[in-house]
Amino acid sequence: MASHLLAIDQGTTSSRAILFDREGHVVTTAQREFPQQFPEDGWVEHDPEALWETVVDTCREAIENASIGIDDILGIGITNQRETTLVWDRATGKPLYNAIVWQDRRTAETCEQLREAGHTEVVQSRTGLLIDPYFSATKLAWILDNVAGARERAERGELAFGTVDTFLIWRLTGGRVHATDATNASRTALFNIHEQSWDPSLLELFGIPESLLPEVKDSSDDFGQTDAEWLGGELPIAGVAGDQQAALVGQACFAPGMGKSTYGTGCFMIVNTGHEAGVSRNRLLTTVGYRLNGVTTYAMEGSIFVAGATVQWLRDGLQLFADAAETEALARKTRRGHSVYLVPAFTGLGAPYWDPKARGAIFGLTRDTGIAEIVAAGLQAVCYQTRDLQMCINDDMTAAPGTLRVDGGMVANNWVMQFLADMLGVRVDRPTVLETTALGAAYLAGLRLGWYRDLEEIAGLWRCERSFEPEMPEEERSRLYDGWLEAVDRVRSAPA
Ligand code: G3P
Repeated sequence: MASHLLAIDQGTTSSRAILFDREGHVVTTAQREFPQQFPEDGWVEHDPEALWETVVDTCREAIENASIGIDDILGIGITNQRETTLVWDRATGKPLYNAIVWQDRRTAETCEQLREAGHTEVVQSRTGLLIDPYFSATKLAWILDNVAGARERAERGELAFGTVDTFLIWRLTGGRVHATDATNASRTALFNIHEQSWDPSLLELFGIPESLLPEVKDSSDDFGQTDAEWLGGELPIAGVAGDQQAALVGQACFAPGMGKSTYGTGCFMIVNTGHEAGVSRNRLLTTVGYRLNGVTTYAMEGSIFVAGATVQWLRDGLQLFADAAETEALARKTRRGHSVYLVPAFTGLGAPYWDPKARGAIFGLTRDTGIAEIVAAGLQAVCYQTRDLQMCINDDMTAAPGTLRVDGGMVANNWVMQFLADMLGVRVDRPTVLETTALGAAYLAGLRLGWYRDLEEIAGLWRCERSFEPEMPEEERSRLYDGWLEAVDRVRSAPA
């Protein structure tokens, strides 16, 4: 009898494959980073073949390290960096252009024109999103308009569009399945989240031929069987969700008002709003949390573009330390309440500012500022940004989250977690399994394949490893946060 589920987590900086047992424990993990390409200011691309190869390699490695056979695996769940846009040839499976990554700002002008032409309301009311280069629609249109012959070929039905999940499903099934799930579809700005279908008027607005689009399925569904050549046998792909929604599932945030924040490359705070698609007054996003048995659960989301990527920049760009694990000791050396603020607006600012033209800066340097203060400021920026989101969510929701579940690479840092609890003024819970994104994908597959009865059973598997209680006096919290708001104001392209 199969004893494992295989989760593929194709993220922004690395691909991972994780084998889980039925209780949600990690059995083996394999991870490979791949190159980030920055062809122009604000552009971010990935080589689709690098995404594909690292996925296949890590799956093989995870299976080999577990010393199990393919028959020991029940099935596959896929989770992925969202919004990242690919177009490929239906006949050959060959991409026409690099994957345009969610962080890419090349369509900022187009978005500005669409906003100025008054299209924000129609996009927001149908998709729950704002008009921003972040989402797939304008990236897809850019490929059609900038790759020779692409638009004509798309009109002729020769091309396929997909976010990363769709591309991987296509490749794994040998081109037999062209599908995505409702969470990923909800990030394209082409999908009507109320009707749960591609929206003809949005396709027209963004100039997207319908023939490009994948079928939209539930998050637990039949996404086909993998070809035996990839993993040494056929496996059903039975769970798919965008990485932030998968983390919502992995963190078992199934009741309205429950929320999680994932600190990966970016930081994404998502709060379950139940079967009602709420509308934010604070420029947060309304998104599909998950869709099971045709029933949609919605969520409100605050998206910060740069979180862990700041640590990566401090390490690789400035070379201030060799290993991210050193940041905790460095931050502990700083004087409490030091004056340095680092605004990591490397690719603009996400929620609630939505300013693609803003760029990063460091403020408040004094003669005694050293590496430790700059590193601490980078870590603190992530917490300040989470507070930005929390303020919006509290204002938007009647029942705001009283605790926050956290995951992602950065949450291993206890100093950051304590500062986060202090800045938010609520308890921060860190689970025993930090691989919640992959775990969520595995749970979604396990629901479909009969391992789990329902969400309640999955919720019963969630375990807290450590809670961080807020300790900072309110006066200090406000003073520090006011300093952050001032720093953000100084990098914005247009005054608040
Ligand atoms: O929306 C972008 C998000 O899905 C990327 O997540 O974990 O790769 O930073 P991550």
